[in-house]
Order: sequence, then C-alpha cells, then structure tokens
Amino acid sequence: MKATDLLKQQHDEVAKLFEAIEASDNDTEKRQLFLEVASKLAAHDAIERKIFYPACEEAMGLNDLLGEALVEHGVIEFSLYQGTEAVGKPDFEFKVKVLKELVEHHVEEEEAEFFPKAKKALGDDSLDLLGSEMEAAFQKELEADFRQPLYDNLRQVLAGALKPAPSKTKPIKVRKSA
Ligand SMILES: [Fe+2]
Ligand SMILES: [Fe+2]
Repeated sequence: MKATDLLKQQHDEVAKLFEAIEASDNDTEKRQLFLEVASKLAAHDAIERKIFYPACEEAMGLNDLLGEALVEHGVIEFSLYQGTEAVGKPDFEFKVKVLKELVEHHVEEEEAEFFPKAKKALGDDSLDLLGSEMEAAFQKELEADFRQPLYDNLRQVLAGALKPAPSKTKPIKVRKSA
C-alpha cells in the first residue's frame, strides 16, 4: 500500500474512534475507546515523524507545509498527553474534544495540501516502499505502551525541538491508568 493511502486509512480510523467516543454514554466504554485512539494516534504520530516526514524532507526540503506539520505534531502530542492524564477526571471530555479538533485540522491540511505535494516529490516506487516500512513500524509501535515514547518525545518538544530525536534521557514517570 502507498504510504499516503496507509496514512489516510489511519486518519479515517481515528476519526471513527473519536465519533464513537462522542456517541457513547458509557464512561468505561469512553475510556476504552480513548485508550485505543490514543495508542493509534501515538503510533501514527511516530511513523510520520520517524519515517514519512524525513523521506518527504529528503524529497522536497523542509518547506512550509512540512515545517507546520511538525509543529502541529508537537501540539497534538501535548493535547494527547492532557487527555491521557485526564482519564477518569471531570475535564476528560473537554480535553478529548480539543484533541479531536486539533487532529481534524491537521488531517485536513495533510490530506488536502501536504500529501499531494509529497506524492509528486516521492514518486510511486518510494511511496510503496515507505508504505510497507510504515505498516510494519505501526504494528510494532502498537505493541508497546504508547505513554513512555510519547512523553519522552513531548519533553523534547517542550525544550524547543522541531524534530525530536529518539530520546536517550532518563524516562519520565508514567502514570498507569485503566
Ligand atoms: Fe497523519
Ligand atoms: Fe501528521
């Protein structure tokens, strides 16, 4: 599958999960759905940051679209952190709503502006190769708890990094919930 088709498929899946959270009136179900969307978002964030965006940068340089996408990932990571920490608390719904809106904005720009340019710059063969690599990496990301890598990454974003490197710093403490 082409990298951009894989990413679009994941965008659609995430959108459906957010809709399911909003439609549910059961707190336990909402919490389970949130943890599912959170781990999928974190894995999606990781394969774009670690594989897709670097390939795009190589093919078309660090243009405005890519630069803004990287900044938005940092903002979404912060919002995802807020939602995760709010699980089981009264402000959970507000935080999930803002996360959903940020993701929708980012996805819209990615699909309407970024992907068409990236597809042209990368070409079909690279898109296929990247797609396979990203599909495998996504499954691998899903196997581990999403919180530790997300929080390590976010700490670099808070320190001003546009493109966080895999963290070598001492892991921050992760609060286990649900
Ligand atoms: Fe995306
Ligand atoms: Fe993205």
